Amino acid sequence: MKTQVAIIGGGPSGLLLSQLLHRAGVDTVVLERKTKDYVLGRIRAGVLEQGFVSLMKEAGCADRMERDGFPHEGTQIAFGETAFRVDFAALTGTPVMVYGQTEVTRDLYAAREQMDGKIEYEVENVTIHDADGDAPCVTYAVHGQERRLDCDFLAGCDGFHGVSRKSIPEDVRREYEKVYPYGWLGVLSETPPVDHELLYSNSERGFALCSMRNENLSRYYLQCSLDEKVEDWSDAAFWEELKRRIPQQFADKLVTGPSIEKSIAPLRSFVTEPMRWGRLFLCGDAAHIVPPTGAKGLNSAASDVHYLYHALKDFYASGDERGIDGYSAKALARVWKVERFSWWFSSLMHRTADQSAFDHRMQMAELEFLASSEAAQRAMAENYVGLPY
Ligand code: FAD
Ligand code: DHB
Repeated sequence: MKTQVAIIGGGPSGLLLSQLLHRAGVDTVVLERKTKDYVLGRIRAGVLEQGFVSLMKEAGCADRMERDGFPHEGTQIAFGETAFRVDFAALTGTPVMVYGQTEVTRDLYAAREQMDGKIEYEVENVTIHDADGDAPCVTYAVHGQERRLDCDFLAGCDGFHGVSRKSIPEDVRREYEKVYPYGWLGVLSETPPVDHELLYSNSERGFALCSMRNENLSRYYLQCSLDEKVEDWSDAAFWEELKRRIPQQFADKLVTGPSIEKSIAPLRSFVTEPMRWGRLFLCGDAAHIVPPTGAKGLNSAASDVHYLYHALKDFYASGDERGIDGYSAKALARVWKVERFSWWFSSLMHRTADQSAFDHRMQMAELEFLASSEAAQRAMAENYVGLPY
């Protein structure tokens, strides 16, 4: 088989890139290790930047998002019993969109199917060949049958554990990593959200986040230690702990119910450089990971897709290679700023066992400053709603 752009990974990055390129007349094949149902079963991000929304529009996939998504003009931040609001609309003129990654992925799959986009599911042993030469290809197997896909370019959209990043030789790759000494225990429940906006809470018992998907679907997270197991947390224990970590005014309004999903995720910051090697381009989690505080994972994947889509579109339209040559530097410049924000917001909101009394006072002083300074809130809001592409 032959295509122009072979896309490894059928998560949001791979699907969005494929859809945008197809609409620009560029042929792609997406290779996904799992089944479609498996990909759709992963409960992940929930807050989308305007840039992401615009890309979905450009991809012709935004109708359901515009109808069923919830624009949010601000968020609540709490420390102890103090809560304050950061007004994104007033400070930046831009809202964010609450619409789940599951729904984004569902819309992208539907669009790909409607256009007869080529997606191979359950691919195994994906191996990239000659990415630094003129005629790269990918070999893989489907249900034991060996296949080969020749291409002009490769997009590595296969997440943190994929093969693409590891295909770049070690003497070319530089990796930067920080592993945080805590994780997030997440619960999805068919209950109304505690408030009409999100609530990020720094409590003396650890961080808590009250988020949502719609009027009757809530997403909650608790900071947990890395050795805790999902099985150790009954629903009753989760709700009890959540109530203790948010201000009383919110705890009093909390509606509890059975969880329909419960999972633990570790927190990590990670960046690999460069994001291009020959004809292979890394996109999204394949190249960088942020801790989830501030909901930047999926959104920074989208900014990579934006740069790569324009680079490839320009190349195929006119042979212009400037976008391709500039991709890694351009994407990384934004990635590092997003890494900084996610690291800052995580550090501000979590408690750690080794935190000294001084460190704790610094956290509280910074929260007091954020609560009272418009300049500090503006800087936070600017990052939260999404830096420009
Ligand atoms: P992925 O979504 O990881 O997609 C990669 C795809 O590649 C997958 O479908 C995978 O099956 C496939 N693949 C992997 N290896 C291969 C291979 N060898 N061959 C073929 N296919 C392969 N972000 C937020 O903003 N907010 C959140 O609350 C949040 N929660 C998260 C919770 C978890 C547990 C995780 C892991 C991430 C979370 N994120 C969150 C981050 C966000 O979901 C990711 O940034 C986003 O999914 C990145 O999209 P992607 O397409 O780059 O990668
Ligand atoms: C969600 C996750 C986040 O990390 C965040 O900062 C906001 C919302 C969510 O899953 O809803």
